[in-house]
Parts: sequence; structure tokens; C-alpha cells
Amino acid sequence: MAIKFSNTFLLRKLHQLTGIVPLGIFFFVHIYTNSTALNGPAIFNKHVQDIHDIPYLLLIEIFGIFIPLLFHSVYGVLISAEAKPNVLGYRYGRNWFYFFQRATGIFLFVFLLFHILNFRFGLIPGLNMIPVAGNAYRAFSIVSSEFQLTWVLVIYFFGILATAWHLAYGLFLFAVDWGIVIGEKAQKMTMYASLGFALFLSVVGINAAVAFVRPCGLLPQALCEDVKKPTPSGTVQF
Ligand code: HEM
Repeated sequence: MAIKFSNTFLLRKLHQLTGIVPLGIFFFVHIYTNSTALNGPAIFNKHVQDIHDIPYLLLIEIFGIFIPLLFHSVYGVLISAEAKPNVLGYRYGRNWFYFFQRATGIFLFVFLLFHILNFRFGLIPGLNMIPVAGNAYRAFSIVSSEFQLTWVLVIYFFGILATAWHLAYGLFLFAVDWGIVIGEKAQKMTMYASLGFALFLSVVGINAAVAFVRPCGLLPQALCEDVKKPTPSGTVQF
């Protein structure tokens, strides 16, 4: 009998765990760094530079981001291929959520490949060819010039919405599957909380993306800290 990936207990648990522990935490930190763009290019570049000043960064990226991401994505695509969506037959909310979880996973696989090759490595011919790594002092202008292209910005909006949904609903599935939330009422409350969390991540993520094409993103500019006394080299004096 053929082995079903979706039934392999240990791999399945590892798949859930990698989605939350390195990747979920990474996304939280990432959305924070991106949000610093609300306060202008110099502040964002400084935060990117701080990340690049971390010792052993490449090893942290390989073991803390790329390997878990590769495992989570490949295994996720395999279990999605085994899924039997029946949203047209049974139009329940949870049925749609099950479908969206797999659809966003497959979309994110392609989006993240594009995104990492594009910004981290500068390897998308015809688009950005400057890696942010080693060029932190112009990280803002690399992202900003790319986001001037409407279709790229729209792809990022979808990438953010898909990540927000995938992570928030993934947290709900994790809590249920690991026996953290057991009763029917508790599961219902946790589901509402995860939908709220998805909304929160979407709004904060989209606002950060808009900040690369409009100062202060979608917020009134009075709410954002101005870049204080920029020097000719682009650094900030506080
Ligand atoms: C506002 C939208 C976004 C912007 C402006 C943005 C920006 C960036 C930049 C500049 C880098 C290169 C970092 C570096 O080399 O130090 C990067 C890497 C990365 N981004 Fe994003 N990103 C966005 C959305 C997302 C989303 C939705 C995800 C989904 C999880 C994501 C996941 C990643 C990953 C996995 C990396 C590679 C991390 C690393 O190499 O350290 N990003 N992003």
C-alpha cells in the first residue's frame, strides 16, 4: 500500500512545529523590520544593517529559515496534493478554511521563491539584480524602486494576505491538533481569535508595504517620526 504523507505522524508534527517555531517567529520579526519603513529610509536601512551585523548570520539563515522553510514548503505541497477539497459539495466555513490553508500554502511556495531570489539574492533578471545582503545601506531604495511597479506591489499584497491567513489559521490548527484547545466552545473562541490575528497581520503587513511608496504608509504623516537631520551619507543623527 502506498504511504500517505498526510498520515505520517512524526513528519506531520514536525511540519506543524516548523510552521510556528522558526517560521512564524521569523515572520513576526520580519513584519516589524518592514514596518520601520514607516519612519523613512534611513531608519529602515539601519534596522536591516543591524540584522546583517548579527554574527554567523548565514548559518542562522540556513538552519533557522531556509531548511525549515524548504521542509515546511515541500511537505506542505505533498500533503496538499493528497487533499480532496469538497468545498462545492459541503459549503461549511471550516471546509473553506481547509481549502484556503492548502491554496495559500501552494501560492506561498512560489511567492517566497520569487521574493527570496529577488531581495535576498538579487537574482531575478529584468527586475532587481542587487542583493540586500551586503547593500543594507540601500535596502529601502531596492525595495521601493521595485514597488513602483504596480504588479509587483499587488503580488506583495497577495503574499502578505496569504502569509497572514496561513500563519493565523495554522496557529489554530496547531492548538487543536496538539490538544491545547479541546472543548467545542474553546475551539470556536480560538478560531475567532485566529481570524482576528490574520486581520491584524494583514493590516500591519500591507501598511508596511505601502510605506515603501508613500511616506508613513496608509497612516496620516503626522503619526510617523520624521527622519531627524539626515547627513549627506544618509545616516541619521539622533
Ligand atoms: C512588505 C512586504 C515585504 C517586504 C518589504 C520584504 C522585504 C524583504 C527584504 C528586503 C528581504 C531581504 C533581507 C535581507 O537580505 O536582509 C526579505 C527576505 C525574506 N522575506 Fe520578506 N518582505 C516582505 C514580505 C514577506 C512575506 C509576506 C514573507 C512571508 C513569510 C517574507 C519572507 C521572507 C523570507 C523567508 C526572507 C529571507 C530571509 C533571510 O534571508 O534572512 N517576506 N524580505
